[in-house]
Amino acid sequence: MKKIAVLTSGGDAPGMNAAIRAVTRKSIYEHLDVYGIYRGYQGLIEGDVKPLQLGDVGGIIHRGGTMLYTARSKEFMTEEGFQEALEQLSFFGIDAVIVIGGDGSFKGAHALHQQGIKTIGIPATIDNDVLGTQFTIGFDTSINTVIEAIDKIRDTATSHERTYIIEVMGRGNGDIALWSGLAAGAESIVIPEVTESLETIARRVVRGYERGKRHSIIIVAEGAGNSKEVADYIEKATGLETRISVLGHIQRGGSPTAFDRVLASRMGVEAVEMLLQGKSGFMIGIQGPQLVHHPFKHIWNKKYDVLEQTYQAAKQLSI
Ligand code: F6P
Repeated sequence: MKKIAVLTSGGDAPGMNAAIRAVTRKSIYEHLDVYGIYRGYQGLIEGDVKPLQLGDVGGIIHRGGTMLYTARSKEFMTEEGFQEALEQLSFFGIDAVIVIGGDGSFKGAHALHQQGIKTIGIPATIDNDVLGTQFTIGFDTSINTVIEAIDKIRDTATSHERTYIIEVMGRGNGDIALWSGLAAGAESIVIPEVTESLETIARRVVRGYERGKRHSIIIVAEGAGNSKEVADYIEKATGLETRISVLGHIQRGGSPTAFDRVLASRMGVEAVEMLLQGKSGFMIGIQGPQLVHHPFKHIWNKKYDVLEQTYQAAKQLSI
């Protein structure tokens, strides 16, 4: 193996740059040629591929986003697009691709692996929804951004004695809502993995006000449904003034935390190491302090389990 390429795919996540830097520098350290594939799989199809040197990845460890840009390529999922991608890899003489992204991106990596291209996946998405890893790159930064926002909103909530419905990201899972809700002391957390009736949530809000709380914060994961519906119900059922705040894409940007930089750097080095050992078709994960490896095919189509203990802790502390 002489030539490695790296790409980022799917939604950007803080720490992707640190992972690109680690892959590039470790490859150069190992005397390998390393290429950047720009704009994810779409860029691969279009031949948007350039060599990376040490200097190209200087000054990026602290930057959010991805210097390689990213895309969600529909064309790559077609037979023609996929064949074009294979031709581009052969044209550039690339033997291995490191894919930084979420489980959707790893489906593409798995397909390349089945065609004999060596591939390794590095999990990076703010959602923290990839099975086989305790944490994905970007999640820690994202929840820190969210709690900063909740702390600010709480000032206004208290001053006006309002109930705030704060909608956070998380397409199909509630990790951002759960972790930030616990960390910021939210009164209720609405996530897709757990069913709690609006009636119960409204009762908790009223109970809080009755014993002297001046505000209430309800965090709703985007994947759990409609925050407007929650707000309307609470306002009607309690008679309290409510507001909705949708945090949106500020959750995806910003300088990565130390945790995300370290995780990205470790995973980037490990990915190149695995390729040197002849491995392919694996995603790297972290479990406790250890980096672990899982075959791509084991990480999708399974329900992602919310940490019941974390949910219960948040619930019991919000009395
Ligand atoms: O997967 C990350 C994520 O931010 C989800 O939480 C969200 O549902 C989705 O991407 C939004 O994607 P975009 O706005 O980039 O289409």
